[in-house]
Amino acid sequence: MAYNLLKGKRGIIFGALDENSIAWKTAERVHAEGGTFVLTNAPIAMRMGQINQLAEKTGSEIIPADATSEEDLNNLVAKATEILGGKLDFVLHSIGMSVNVRKGRAYTDEKYDFTAKGWDVSALSFHKVMQSLYKADAMNQWGSIVALTYMAAQRTFPDYNDMADNKAYLESVARSFGYFFGKEKQVRVNTISQSPTPTTAGQGVKGFGGFIAYADKMSPLGNATAQDCADYTVSLFSDLTKKVTMQNLFHDGGFSNTGVSQEVIERFTEE
Ligand code: NAI
Repeated sequence: MAYNLLKGKRGIIFGALDENSIAWKTAERVHAEGGTFVLTNAPIAMRMGQINQLAEKTGSEIIPADATSEEDLNNLVAKATEILGGKLDFVLHSIGMSVNVRKGRAYTDEKYDFTAKGWDVSALSFHKVMQSLYKADAMNQWGSIVALTYMAAQRTFPDYNDMADNKAYLESVARSFGYFFGKEKQVRVNTISQSPTPTTAGQGVKGFGGFIAYADKMSPLGNATAQDCADYTVSLFSDLTKKVTMQNLFHDGGFSNTGVSQEVIERFTEE
């Protein structure tokens, strides 16, 4: 069901790799709500991904950009405002990658140039994206910027590895930049802390099957899907949430406030 919540709004969507990506589902949902946007991803991801199909389906143009490159980001912001015919109303940062996780290095055996690369891609890139937008004065008043995060920023999930530290940094950047963007441009900045979701990035986490099943059994409403996340993001891009800013918003079916569930107790009860 569409409500025209984003009619006339323009934006940039980072991170649609394939149809499982949270950014992919969000792009489809934003399109259904009347928003127009430019799609972007790292040049290498475009060769592997199916982003052309999404662009066709949503009538969008694609501008490649490595989110760690200031030059690419400045070019992206300039071209996106030109293509879309004005300043932007929404931006989705849906980017994450840990080299330590990819190479199977434990948290207690990090290779620090891998750590630095993962931090640049997953966390600092959010600052870089916002600084490009801010300096170019590319956001409209009452615009909305959202990045995706995970609860390992607050609580330890051992196999989430150095992504936990990256997410803690990302959430802090949302608060800090949110202050300046709010004061000077009336733009809101939030992070959505999403349930485990079966995507390429998600499935890279060791033991993901057990992880996602446990979260589902612990959440009174069950895990939030990528589609649910797209819906929530649309609400944050809409004019219905104008005064929500500098927040880390849990979107997890209640997981983060549940101590234990009946289903989990039953698994541990000996008859
Ligand atoms: P995904 O693998 O579909 O998306 C990750 C995206 O990051 C890909 O499109 C990839 O090309 C892009 N990316 C990597 N390096 C890049 C770079 N240098 N420049 C630009 N883009 C780059 O996976 P998913 O799950 O949709 O991830 C989106 C966001 O959601 C990430 O921030 C992830 O940490 C977060 N998240 C995912 C959860 C999950 O369980 N899947 C749970 C909570 C948060």
